[in-house]
Amino acid sequence: MNTYKIAVIPGDGTGPEVITEGVKVLNAAASRFGFGLDFTWYDYGGERYLKTGEVLPEGAVEDLKQYKAIYLGAIGHPDVKPGILEKGILLNLRFALDQYVNLRPIVLYPGVDTPLKDKGPDDVDFVVVRENTEGLYTGSGGVLKKGTPDEVAVQESINTRKGVERCIRYAFEYCRKRNKGKKVTLCGKTNVLTFAFDLWERAFYEVAKDYPDIKTDYAHVDATCMWMVKNPDWFDVIVTDNMFGDIITDLGAMIQGGMGIAAGGNLNPEGVSMFEPIGGSAPKYTGKNVINPLAAICAGGMMMEYLGEDDAAKAVENAVKKAVSENLKSLSAGKMGYSTTEVGDLVAGYVAQGV
Ligand code: IPM
Ligand code: MN
Repeated sequence: MNTYKIAVIPGDGTGPEVITEGVKVLNAAASRFGFGLDFTWYDYGGERYLKTGEVLPEGAVEDLKQYKAIYLGAIGHPDVKPGILEKGILLNLRFALDQYVNLRPIVLYPGVDTPLKDKGPDDVDFVVVRENTEGLYTGSGGVLKKGTPDEVAVQESINTRKGVERCIRYAFEYCRKRNKGKKVTLCGKTNVLTFAFDLWERAFYEVAKDYPDIKTDYAHVDATCMWMVKNPDWFDVIVTDNMFGDIITDLGAMIQGGMGIAAGGNLNPEGVSMFEPIGGSAPKYTGKNVINPLAAICAGGMMMEYLGEDDAAKAVENAVKKAVSENLKSLSAGKMGYSTTEVGDLVAGYVAQGV
């Protein structure tokens, strides 16, 4: 039997609650499809930081390299200054493990409410490929004369040809494999960011030459936001930089039904990848058994696909689809008509039955 070693970092707030349900569902998939999942739990997060002053202990990154994948809950604690845990854990792992693609599917399942008027599942089905190791996120820049009237703050966007190209290439490969709209849209800002997106644009059209079966398109990031609301059906695969990808995928999460369902994968196709629900740690719902675990469950489904367990991934997706179309009243915390653990039981049951 094939057994995959998975590191679990449930993290802060509602992270542990949703990850527990995800593990429940994945175990159901593993027993049905005859493979093993060997989970090792890590306590990295806000609580540990408050106790020890350490975000990630020495050697944590090296240690995590022994796993096939990482399953992450949420990072962010109300008693820790913003930025410390995000940079010290989440961004640190993305960078150190060179997870250069952040893959975020934006799919509206039947039965799920979208705030978009007159739009349905046929209209909202695309994927954002967000560059995940460069851009404004590298921490490049600095500050001078801090706290004085002459203060200067510089935060630079770093775009390397290599980093941009590998991300774009992934988007084209993924588009081909996905085999839906056969179109990759570059989302940028070539009219203002004339250095960074000039590099992106040239790399994009050069890579596109290797994919004559795939159509290309371009949209500025502001227009992308507009089209995502007005004509989301125009998109198949969107490729963009780290910052724009961060912003448009929150918009994407909303049009697919909210943070309760939005999942993503931080991918290093040659290394260790990390899967997470894209919402935060939702401190106000912590410990109440009301948070929606579907985003974490969907992230687990993406992890199965990444491991090559396509049947398991499909089974998780089908089970989630059935739960949202037939059972859950809403995807919002506290309004599902089910508790967190009940949603996990329901989906795990559907996976076991094979719906
Ligand atoms: C995300 C989050 C992170 C990001 C934060 C928590 C650092 O918003 O995964 O989208 O900006 O990438
Ligand atoms: Mn974000």
